[in-house]
Amino acid sequence: MTRHLFAISALALALTACGQSPAPAEAPADASTMPAPAPSEPTPAEPAAAKPTPAASSKPAVVADCATTIESNDAIQYNADAITVPASCSQFTINLKHMGKLAVTVMGHNLVVSKESDMAAVASDGAGAAPEFVKADDVRIVAHTKMIGGGESASVTFDVAKIKDGGPFMFFCSFPGHMALMKGSIQVQ
Ligand code: CU
Repeated sequence: MTRHLFAISALALALTACGQSPAPAEAPADASTMPAPAPSEPTPAEPAAAKPTPAASSKPAVVADCATTIESNDAIQYNADAITVPASCSQFTINLKHMGKLAVTVMGHNLVVSKESDMAAVASDGAGAAPEFVKADDVRIVAHTKMIGGGESASVTFDVAKIKDGGPFMFFCSFPGHMALMKGSIQVQ
């Protein structure tokens, strides 16, 4: 009787042990932990590899014949955040369109090109220079369009040599408060 009980309890232990081994097979928990770090490594690796395209420019401007057209709207946005100027161009033209309806005094947009390191100062100095919001004779400005309102357009053409060295260069809107949302990179390649 005692032996029998012992045998049963031994069996129970064995079963418990067996039942536990599938539990460690709960190691799927470990397995899920393993795949976790695994994908997390390829994940940064993939964006890194994909960086040249989307990260360098999530919304690249369409460039053709040494020119591009950037659209702006009533939501304080450009439709592109990167312009790549072909190195073969001696001059480059940026056409700016305001697709919105708001007046220039309320939702004015322009497009200013300067070194990234000059952006903030160019914008703050321009903030007091209504209605263009560009300080007169600001030598830090490589090029800029006039300020436009809804339905209007403007363009500016400049020598590509001006942005070949000394960058990085940026383009942005100098209407007070717009630069944070309306900016992008411009580079010669
Ligand atoms: Cu603007």
